[in-house]
Formats: sequence, C-alpha cells, structure tokens
Amino acid sequence: MEIAVKTGRIEDEASDAVLLSHWEGEKTLTGETAAFNTRLKGRLGELLKSGEFTGRLGQISVVHIAPGERVRAKRVVLVGLGRRKEGSLEKIRQAMGKAAKAIRDLGAKSLSTLVHGRTASTTPRSGNGGGSRGVTAREASRAMVEGALLGLYQFTPYRTEQADEVKTLKRMTVVVGDARAVGEVREGVRLGRIVGEASTFVRDLCNHPANVVTPTYIANEARKIAKDTRVRCKVLDRSQMQRLGMGAILGVARGSHEPPKFVILEYRGASRAERPVALVGKTITFDSGGISIKPAENMEQMKADMTGGAAVLAAIRAAARLRLPLNVIGIIPATENMPGGRATKPGDILTSLSGKTIEVINTDAEGRLILADGLTYAARYKPKVLVDIATLTGACVVALGNHAIGVLGNNESLITELRAAGEQAGERAWPLPLWEEYYDQIKSDVADMKNTGGRPGGTITAAAFLSKFVGDAVWAHLDIASTDWSDRERAYIPKGATGVGARLLIQFLCNRATGRRAGARANGDRAGRRRSPRKAAVR
Ligand code: BES
Ligand code: MN
Ligand code: ZN
Repeated sequence: MEIAVKTGRIEDEASDAVLLSHWEGEKTLTGETAAFNTRLKGRLGELLKSGEFTGRLGQISVVHIAPGERVRAKRVVLVGLGRRKEGSLEKIRQAMGKAAKAIRDLGAKSLSTLVHGRTASTTPRSGNGGGSRGVTAREASRAMVEGALLGLYQFTPYRTEQADEVKTLKRMTVVVGDARAVGEVREGVRLGRIVGEASTFVRDLCNHPANVVTPTYIANEARKIAKDTRVRCKVLDRSQMQRLGMGAILGVARGSHEPPKFVILEYRGASRAERPVALVGKTITFDSGGISIKPAENMEQMKADMTGGAAVLAAIRAAARLRLPLNVIGIIPATENMPGGRATKPGDILTSLSGKTIEVINTDAEGRLILADGLTYAARYKPKVLVDIATLTGACVVALGNHAIGVLGNNESLITELRAAGEQAGERAWPLPLWEEYYDQIKSDVADMKNTGGRPGGTITAAAFLSKFVGDAVWAHLDIASTDWSDRERAYIPKGATGVGARLLIQFLCNRATGRRAGARANGDRAGRRRSPRKAAVR
C-alpha cells in the first residue's frame, strides 16, 4: 500500500473513502467532522442523534455522498475511538485496523484520513504512550499506519480459486491539519510502516507452511536481510555445528531430513567497541513433538513454532532500516522437530555447546534444547543484555491466556524495560517468578539437568532451564506461546499467525537507542533521559 502525507483540507480529498473518528459519548461534532457535517447537510450529526453511531471503540458507520453534495470523496466512514479519557495509542491502532479493513471490504481502493495530535513541542510527554492527551502527531500517525497495515494483512499466496476476488486497498493519504506537524507525521508514518511491515513479515513466515519455510528457507531470508551493508550474516550447517559441539540443537535435528541451520546476524549501528544487544529466537519450523509425538488436533499450528526466530529476523531488519545507533546480534537456531528413525529418544543424554549435559525426558520440550545452544553462543559476545523469545510452553497459555507474553529473567530492570516496550508497542508482557525452589524440578539423576520439570509451573521451569545457559549475562526470556496464534479475528489481528514479538523487540531497541529506558527513568536516572538530536529521529 502506498502511503502519502500532505497538508490541506480533508473536505477536499477525492478518495474512495474519507475516514473520520469520533470519541464515544460526545454529542457534538468538532473540527473537520463538523465541516463535513455541514457539507453533508447534517447527516453525520443525525447518526449521532439517532444513537446509531455512538463512537464505541471500533464501531463503523458509512455515509454515502448524495448527488449535489459538495464533497469529492465517494463516502465518509466514521470510526469510534472509545472514550476520550481512556484514549491510547493502542486504541488508535485498533480503530484504524477495523476501519481500514471495513473500507477495503467495501471495495474502496483509496482512503484519506486526518491525523490528530499536537506537535512534540506543544505536547507534554505521555511516558508509556497511554492516554490520548499526551499523544503527539508523530505517535498518532505511527499508530494509525501500524493499525492499518496490521489490520489489512491477508495471507493469500496459496489461493488459486477466486484469487481475483481478493480486495486490496491501494492508497492511504494522511492529511495533516497543522502544517507545522508535517515533518513529525512523515517520521511517524515511516516508523509505522517499518514496524507494521516487521509484524507482517513475521506473520508471512509463520503462515507459510512448513514444507515451504524450512530451516534452509529461514537461512536464505537472513541472507536477504544481510544485503544491507550494516548487517552481516553467517549460517552454520550441521557439520559446523558438530565441530563446535552444539549437541543440544543437533539432538533435536536428528529426527528430521531437513538440514538444521544456525543463523547469526550481526547489525552494527554503533562503534565496534560497544557491547551488543543479543536476541535469540526459537526457530522450530515444525514441531511434531518428536518421539514424544503431539496429538493430531491443532498440530498444523506448529508450523508457527518459529515465531520467536522470525521476530528476531524482523527486529534486525527493522534496526537496519531505522539505522539505529546500536549493535545488535540475532541468533536463530533453526530445525524441525520430527520423529525419524534416528531421532533422539526419551532417556537420551545430550551434551550442549556449554558442555553441560541434558537428559531428554520429553522430546517435545525441544525449544529449550535449541535455545540452550543459542544462548551459550550469544553469551560469548558478552552482550549488554541477552533476550530470548520463544513459543516455549503450553503452560504459558494456561497461565496468561491469549493476552500477554510471559516474561522471566535474572534482572528486574531488564524485565521492567521489556514490559514498558511491550505496553508501548501493543504487545503486553507479564512477569512470572524464577525462584530457587523451582530448580529442583529440573534436576536429573544421570545428567546435569533434565529437559522437563513436570506440569507444575511449566513456563517457569522452562525458563529455569534456559537460565543455566546464559553465563553471567543480564538476561530475560519472553514466552510467546500464549500470543503467537489467534483462533479468532481481532481489531488488527487476523486469524492465524499474529506476528507477535517483532513490535515489542523493535520498541525495546528504539528505546535503548534513544536512551529512554523506562527502568532507568523510574529510578530517576538522568542518563536515561539523555537524547541526542540524531537519536531522537527514531523515537
Ligand atoms: N512449541 C511447543 C509449545 C507451544 C504450545 C507453543 C502451544 C504454542 C502453542 C513446545 O515445544 C512444547 O511442546 N512444549 C511442551 C513442553 C512440555 C513437554 C514440557 C508443552 O508445553 O506441552
Ligand atoms: Mn515441542
Ligand atoms: Zn516447540
């Protein structure tokens, strides 16, 4: 979709649909909506008065232009934003997602809308991006573009029948009322596009079936990202992994005919001396469970067991597109988990890259095995912080439902920072404890540890296992098994792969790039507020 930014009057836009928003419960029309209302002989006001349109979040009303009315657009679409005092960037994303979808489904090819929000200089800081009062034009336009791109997403490459019936919106025009805000809006739109496309990139990788997206395919995607001069890509094949001693990932790969790949991406946006942020993403391109095979029901969803790795790819790609002044390492251990004749069996003992031995109790607890080697490898970079992201445990769905990522780690301030990034990005994370007591559950009688800790606290014992491979790194783990797949359509999330993770990781990196670390700010750390003009561009 083409996205244009311009100044002018939205009343004069000639698109297929002009999109206007309204706060719930407010009885009068203001600004441009009032101007439209006049040209439409009060028909928008009638919708409000009759109670047909209340402004409830995501509510849509369509008003067609009648002959003789002085409006060049074909129709006006009203979308509800919910209550003004509960306004937030997330509500903007949701309203925009719903509206863009509705407009596309009407058959419209173009939409024009208006960005509200003041310029940064006239707006008090909102802190976590919540509350409409503090929303700047940049933030608002970013959220609008994210909402539109995410809401409009469709996965159609395998449809051959009625393929011509797939509707697409070709053009979105963002009209800026206040000419002083144009620069900010352009930045917001660019950021929104990069972030939105990061999520749809993840969705595509996860929605494509596992007979297409293999570890080799992932390695090739990584190589494509490395066409950017600031990104280096190295791919280890099975024999190189053997030489290094990556017995844990190789143990998972044994049952599959698809060759495993261990992908290393290095993005350099800061000086060579600066320690990197390291990201590790679980990339099981299909999880059958292995010898401890999964039940057939919903097993097809396990093609998305590579969401973590895809999110890391997307985050590195976005860091490069944004030219973030950071060094970032992406580690993507990729393999299938299959029950072949040579597959790892329950009771087998693997020697990981770290030298630690692991008794495999359940071959379906494979994510932590590949992450063990991924984390050990990443820790060797002596990263400032180490974050892994993984569709790791069904227990996370039990604990948090489908509305939060689980976050655990060995450093409170990193957990706080990730939670803040998730809140800002619209991908919320919620903490679980990682106390000493849980470690008893993963003690083995024959090896250094075992790969499952039984049913109680399954998300926690999985994280406890991971913690044994991070050395002395400041580390946190994001369990996205609860949020990577959606069984129903939501405001801007379609059925199927949600693309979760990319937005949180990118926000986390952006915040680090601008020094706006919520943890640091909460501690009153002045350094946390420092902002150079160059860095401010990515906020
Ligand atoms: N990929 C699964 C976890 C998962 C479950 C992701 C549901 C998305 C939705 C993981 O590899 C797995 O199988 N975990 C097991 C661990 C158990 C055997 C200790 C689980 O959660 O059942
Ligand atoms: Mn599994
Ligand atoms: Zn898995």
